Amino acid sequence: METLRVLVTGGAGFIGSHLVRELVSLGYEVRVLDNLSRGSLENLGNALGSVELVLGDVRDPEVTARALTGVDAVVHLAALIDVEESIRLPELYTEVNLVGTLNLVRASRRLDTFVFSSSASVYGDPVKVPIPETHPLSPKSPYAASKAAAELYIKTYSNLYGFRYVILRLFNVYGPRQSRFYSGVVVEFVRRALRGEPPVIYGDGEQTRDFVYVSDVVKAIVTVLKTKVSGVYNIGSGKPTRIIDLAYTVLRVVGAENLRPEFREARPGDVKHSVADISKATRELGFRPTVNLEAGLRLLADFYKRSDPHSSTSFKSSHGSSGSKFSTS
Ligand SMILES: NC(=O)c1ccc[n+]([C@@H]2O[C@H](COP(=O)([O-])OP(=O)(O)OC[C@H]3O[C@@H](n4cnc5c(N)ncnc54)[C@H](O)[C@@H]3O)[C@@H](O)[C@H]2O)c1
Repeated sequence: METLRVLVTGGAGFIGSHLVRELVSLGYEVRVLDNLSRGSLENLGNALGSVELVLGDVRDPEVTARALTGVDAVVHLAALIDVEESIRLPELYTEVNLVGTLNLVRASRRLDTFVFSSSASVYGDPVKVPIPETHPLSPKSPYAASKAAAELYIKTYSNLYGFRYVILRLFNVYGPRQSRFYSGVVVEFVRRALRGEPPVIYGDGEQTRDFVYVSDVVKAIVTVLKTKVSGVYNIGSGKPTRIIDLAYTVLRVVGAENLRPEFREARPGDVKHSVADISKATRELGFRPTVNLEAGLRLLADFYKRSDPHSSTSFKSSHGSSGSKFSTS
């Protein structure tokens, strides 16, 4: 079988680095396009020596055209992902997330497959849970709007040029090497607990999210590359977790049961409930998440114990200041 040549944009980021390492270990020829604004080459570990690097910006059409030359498939992960930042800097988010995607699809005339990491945030406040792919889109932030608009441009250029597209609407992905710029609630809780600081919950903690471990997301992307499916798929665990339950599970896993969550006022814009209906991905991709929340939290806690010089296993302090985020990016 011919080796598939894959471009991974955002390959030096959190999800990208896990994907790149897996693709390299499976024997794919991998090119990474990243401007390292939020990722790092360290994330790639030993895989760094086996990939072709294009250090550049998806906002530059010459860079995207060059990066796409000679590849069979692209997995487009490069994006800015902080919902709150997107409300402050909507032009920047439009440039990177939407124009960056447009630059790629415009240069994809000869491409076989375009895989895109969209987001559960495109659904906004769900009118129905679990959320199926047919749910109406109602973005609540420029970040979410940029993802929804990028989806449309991908479909448009697939119609024009004929490449196969797969849009994966990712729910709350967590795991090692999550961005220090926007880490999400799971990593925040784990790192704070390891430092002896309590989890900070905005609102009453009854809100639910769908947490999916990064290796399960990578499996879904690899399956998409291997098969001929096309269309839109939700990728999550399919299970709702209340934030309060997440907080107590983290404290137990980390061995910091002496801590108690702190509560702050709910933040406007946070959706109340979010859980993926993953039946389409299960049926058509054979997608079945294998890492449950407790196992994933253990892997994450082990990772930060090894790599985080500031974490400690003595849980003396119980007064933290910085909060955590649980928008569905
Ligand atoms: N992490 C999640 O929970 C989650 C949920 C839903 C969707 N997603 C999507 O998955 C993708 C990857 O997310 P992540 O968590 O790995 O984020 P990340 O920030 O760790 O990775 C993004 C990568 O894109 C690169 N990048 C940013 N702007 C760029 C630009 N202008 N040109 C080139 N490279 C650029 C960054 O340097 C970084 O390496 C994103 O598209 C995000 O919207 C993530």
